[in-house]
Amino acid sequence: MARNKITLIGGGQIGGNLALIAAQKELGDVILFDIPRAEGMVKGKTLDIMQLRPHDGYDSKLTGTSNYEDIKDSDVVIITAGIPRKPGMSRDDLLGINLKIISDVAENVKKYAPNAFVIVVSNPLDAIVYAFHKVSGFSKNKVIGMAGALDSARFKAFLAMETGYSVQDIQCMVLGGHGDTMVPITRLATIGGIPAEDLISKERLDAIIERTRFAGGEIVKLFGNGSAFYAPAASAIEMAESYLKDKKRIIPSAALCEGEFGIDGYFIGVPTVIGANGIEKILEFPLLVDEKTQLMNTLEAVKKTVAETGL
Ligand code: APR
Repeated sequence: MARNKITLIGGGQIGGNLALIAAQKELGDVILFDIPRAEGMVKGKTLDIMQLRPHDGYDSKLTGTSNYEDIKDSDVVIITAGIPRKPGMSRDDLLGINLKIISDVAENVKKYAPNAFVIVVSNPLDAIVYAFHKVSGFSKNKVIGMAGALDSARFKAFLAMETGYSVQDIQCMVLGGHGDTMVPITRLATIGGIPAEDLISKERLDAIIERTRFAGGEIVKLFGNGSAFYAPAASAIEMAESYLKDKKRIIPSAALCEGEFGIDGYFIGVPTVIGANGIEKILEFPLLVDEKTQLMNTLEAVKKTVAETGL
C-alpha cells in the first residue's frame, strides 16, 4: 500500500513542527511547501528531519519545495500560510494579508490536490477557512478549520496545571469562534469523569476560562515576535490522523454549519466527527441558555470578519 501524502502549505514555525510530528507519527510522506523566497528554509527543515529519522527508525520521506506540482494528489493538506500575529495585533488584523494568501493557496490546492482533506490553521481562522471553501469550491466535508482542538487542549492543560492531575484524564470542549469570544462549555469539563465544577472553586475555574480565552495572546506577548506553534501543530495533526486512520474522533473544529446549533452558512467551532469521509457529522446537543447566548455572540464576531472578506 502506498504511503499517504501529507502536504503542509507554509513551512514556518507551525509548518516545521507539523512536518516533524507527521513524520514521527508515521502518518505518511510529507511535502513542506513555501513561497520561492523561503524555498531554502523548507528544503533545509525537511533535510534536517530526514537526518533525525535514523534515531527513531521511521521511514517517512520529507520534501521541501516551492513548486505546486509537488503537492499533486495529496491526501491531506494543512495550511498555515500567512503571517502570524505580532504583539498588539488581534487575529482579525491579519485578515487583509492572509486573505490574499489563502486565495492563491486555494486555487492551487483545487488544481493539484482536488481530493484532499484540507485543514486550515491560518488566522483569523473562521474567515480564512470560509474563504478557502468559497474560492476552492471544495465540498463542506473536506474543509475544516483548526481551532477548537487547540482551545480545548489549552483548557485541559490549565486544568491539569491547577489540579496536578494527569492531562490524560481531563476532558473539555471549547466551541465557537477562534477568538476572545470562544465558548468554553464549562459544565462539560471533567477531571477523571468528575465535573470540574465539583473539584475546583468557581473563582479558580473562572480564572482558568479567562486564561484559556487569551492563551494565544499570552504566548504572543511572551515571544514578542510571532505566535504559538507546538500546540497548534499537534492539534492539526490530531485532526489529520483521525481522517487518515478513520478514527472517527470527536474534535471541536470549525465546520460549515447548515442549521446546526441555529447557525447557517458559517464556519464555527462545533463538535465534529472526523473519519475517512472527512467531517462525517456535526454532533448537535442542547445548549443551556447562557451557552446559546455566548455562541450567538461569537457568531456575530465571525459574521463581522467574514463580511470583511467580501466573499
Ligand atoms: N504560500 C505559501 N506559503 C506562504 C505564502 C503563500 N502565498 N505566504 C506566506 N507563506 C509562508 C511564509 O513564508 C512563512 O514561512 O507562511 C509561513 C508562515 O510561517 P510563520 O510566519 O512562521 O507563521 P506560523 O507561526 O507558522 O503561523 C502561521 O497560523 O496560527 C496561525 O496566526 C497564525 O496565520 C498564522 C499561521
